[in-house]
Amino acid sequence: MRQGEPGDTEADTRVCGLFDGGALTDPDLQRLVDASEAKGTLKRLCVTHEDTDGGGRRRVIIAGLGKEEEFDAEKARVAASAAATRAKELGAESLSWVAPEKDGAVTGIVEGTILCLYDFDRFKSSKDEDDGGGGGIASLEVVGGDEDEASTARVTAAAQNAARDLQNLPSNVCTPEFLATRACEIADAHDSVEVELFDRDQIAEMGMGALTAVAQGTYAEPRLIVLRYQGGGDGPHLGFVGKAVTFDTGGISIKPSAKMHEMKFDMSGGAAVLESIDAIATLGVPAQITAVVPATENMPSGRSVKPGDIVTAMNGKTIEVNNTDAEGRLILSDALCYAVDQGVERIADFATLTGAVIVALGHTYAGLFANDDDWCAVVEEAGRATGEEGWRLPLHPEFAESIKGKYGDISNIGEAGAAGSIAGAEFLKHFVGDTPWVHVDIAGTAWGMKRNYVGNGASGFGVRLMVELARRQGSDPEAGEGSDPEAAVNQGV
Ligand code: BES
Ligand code: ZN
Ligand code: ZN
Repeated sequence: MRQGEPGDTEADTRVCGLFDGGALTDPDLQRLVDASEAKGTLKRLCVTHEDTDGGGRRRVIIAGLGKEEEFDAEKARVAASAAATRAKELGAESLSWVAPEKDGAVTGIVEGTILCLYDFDRFKSSKDEDDGGGGGIASLEVVGGDEDEASTARVTAAAQNAARDLQNLPSNVCTPEFLATRACEIADAHDSVEVELFDRDQIAEMGMGALTAVAQGTYAEPRLIVLRYQGGGDGPHLGFVGKAVTFDTGGISIKPSAKMHEMKFDMSGGAAVLESIDAIATLGVPAQITAVVPATENMPSGRSVKPGDIVTAMNGKTIEVNNTDAEGRLILSDALCYAVDQGVERIADFATLTGAVIVALGHTYAGLFANDDDWCAVVEEAGRATGEEGWRLPLHPEFAESIKGKYGDISNIGEAGAAGSIAGAEFLKHFVGDTPWVHVDIAGTAWGMKRNYVGNGASGFGVRLMVELARRQGSDPEAGEGSDPEAAVNQGV
């Protein structure tokens, strides 16, 4: 964050936001507005150049922010993404944004820039030609605005990008053990975080018959990953639970081959949970959180769980496994029981649970399902504030009826073709008892979101939402381990 005149910057590219019908203070730039060359329509860009005091030239991008009365952090993310993408194409290496004096502007500019500059090219022998031939954009400064806001946004967006890395990594690299190693790194980096890992035998010994059943078909060693964050505060003990199926073939109920490769993303919930803890600990948010990530592959083999098998979850409920592709709810059942046993007082689970949620809500909203209106309202509000939005869908005794077991207590599938996402949620509800719980079905939003700043691929959805939930549930925003906001600025993106 830099105070002072916008033109004083060392950056090679300056970005000025322009509202629809608005004006710019710089007369040279205003001439472009008068000539309708620069417009305030959201995502619209106009590139020009100006003389610097040192006798050089500097690029200036006038970035449309849309209607002033509609402006929020999400519009800022979209506008910042458009500007940074163009700047990168033009070979920019440093950006200086003039933040409009509006709520959420700094958050949106920092997050939109960092998120849109993400790419996953570590397996490419030669790098993309599209980045202007320079070294890429290495620094961002925002002129004006609040330093804490900028540093929170920087840490959060970096964590979201880390979750996108985990999502993008192929399943032969990103195994359950790989995720466990990542959890250990997070715990090592923060005094406030502890890690506990359970292997195949320990998972079975704890009575986690459902997670054991899914994991029995694969050679890859499963892990139940637990991170405990103690950031103080007097808010409720939060439980974040994330599905991490590092590859979902469907098991014996095998999936069609056409899109099966996409199922490396089936660990997106777990990735978001792990990386959100890293961000929350870095920010020193005053909160107490237990994060539980059941991690396994779902494979067909001679040892796999079979349709019709009956298994017993940690809380003693018996489950008929009538479709081995509905494995997410199986591994979550034990993880939710574990979280409840740990004494969590509010639960949010994040899971790429059902294809049906994409039919219902596309790639725009996550599906929300809850047993508690107040806690659900907190999640909905945090979603609106962060641009990671959820839309609540109902539970109903008739849907609960649809997953009644014929031979066991419950079946892991409901009526074919009827409210599949709700059936999944009704199943999970059996494992949370009376604890306020929201299930976030991110099958649509974990990848393929049509937001320019996450570019249609792995989105890291859930990281911003969980950081916000922790911040909202914590008591004193000044407390905690904290990061140094001074050090956070101009540190590069
Ligand atoms: N991982 C899938 C859900 C999924 C599907 C995520 C498409 C993203 C895109 C999940 O394990 C699954 O296979 N669910 C089944 C449930 C069904 C068998 C009741 C589904 O949605 O078809
Ligand atoms: Zn599946
Ligand atoms: Zn799955």
